[in-house]
Amino acid sequence: MGLAIAWRLATDGFGVTVIERGETGQEASWAAAGMLVPDCEFEETTFFSSACRQSLRMYPAFVEALEAESGSRIDFRRFGTLYPAFDNRDQKNLEARLCRQRQEGVAVHSLTLKEVRRLEPNLTSKVQMALYYPENNQVENRDVVKALRVAAERVGAEIRPHTEALGVLYDTECVRGVETATGTVGADIVINATGSWSRYLSGLPGVCSPPVRPVRGQMLALSVVGDPPFRHTIYSSKAYLVPRTSGRLLVGATVEEAGFKNHVTATGALRLLRDAIEVAPALRDFPIESMWAGLRPATPDGWPVIGPTPLKGLYLATGHYRNGILMAPLTAAWMAEMLTGGEVPPAARPFLLERFHASAPPA
Ligand code: GLY
Repeated sequence: MGLAIAWRLATDGFGVTVIERGETGQEASWAAAGMLVPDCEFEETTFFSSACRQSLRMYPAFVEALEAESGSRIDFRRFGTLYPAFDNRDQKNLEARLCRQRQEGVAVHSLTLKEVRRLEPNLTSKVQMALYYPENNQVENRDVVKALRVAAERVGAEIRPHTEALGVLYDTECVRGVETATGTVGADIVINATGSWSRYLSGLPGVCSPPVRPVRGQMLALSVVGDPPFRHTIYSSKAYLVPRTSGRLLVGATVEEAGFKNHVTATGALRLLRDAIEVAPALRDFPIESMWAGLRPATPDGWPVIGPTPLKGLYLATGHYRNGILMAPLTAAWMAEMLTGGEVPPAARPFLLERFHASAPPA
């Protein structure tokens, strides 16, 4: 999120410094699966699901511009997503979802068992039907973060890796910069995009602190031997499967309250492998390429916190939970709009911090 905003703001002429504790893009953005699937992720239409759809529509132009600016290729696969039903309960849920989403004009098709088997023969024989979302796609998030860093630097942003942000500096009027482990960085605008760590910058007044907590997601990747077992992203009530062009097949993900314990557990790995094999028994003999865990930054209502705080010059872009990769283009565009025009775009208002601090004075 920080890199996407930096690229956008530097393009718009702001002087930007990205302060990064480790290497850029190595936390939730690295751990993610890069699924751009708002029509699968959300049960109902809300301000957040609508924002995710808006950001999805921005993705083709975002990727094209990012590839041009960075000179690197991004694996952006646009074969759509299948959401199969494995039992009667799944099927009932999917039929209700189809009915709701058709009324809302979502691009969704119901596929019979025969159609699903023709599209994805490696899915379990338990499949009963599936929903097909032609516009819900996936992107190699690691390509995105690597390209964002190059692109941001090419338009003049300064990236400071291995520099821990310790606290925000401010006086009675406004923000003055960031205190880091290696000195002070002066700035009259500071954007806190520190994900799961967003509430831990020291010295911040309570009304500027976003209620973000980490929610662990464990993932693994299988190496595809021979023909790719899947063409589409597979989203389901069990595991999701995300096939990369490189031959990696991602399997995700657990959703766990485990504090900052960011490791793969025996139970997590067991569950992912069991679910993956249930969804696609053909995966049984595939080599495991890697396993990892990441921390999704979550808020109490599951929506991100974007925009100004009561402290002049201090902004937030955090708490995107399961949709940080998806929401990056729109969040960056909103931040640019706020900083250049001084106004919060109407569609961004539901994501202001003030919803958690009802008595806070207006920004
Ligand atoms: N966006 C999928 C996940 O967070 O697991």
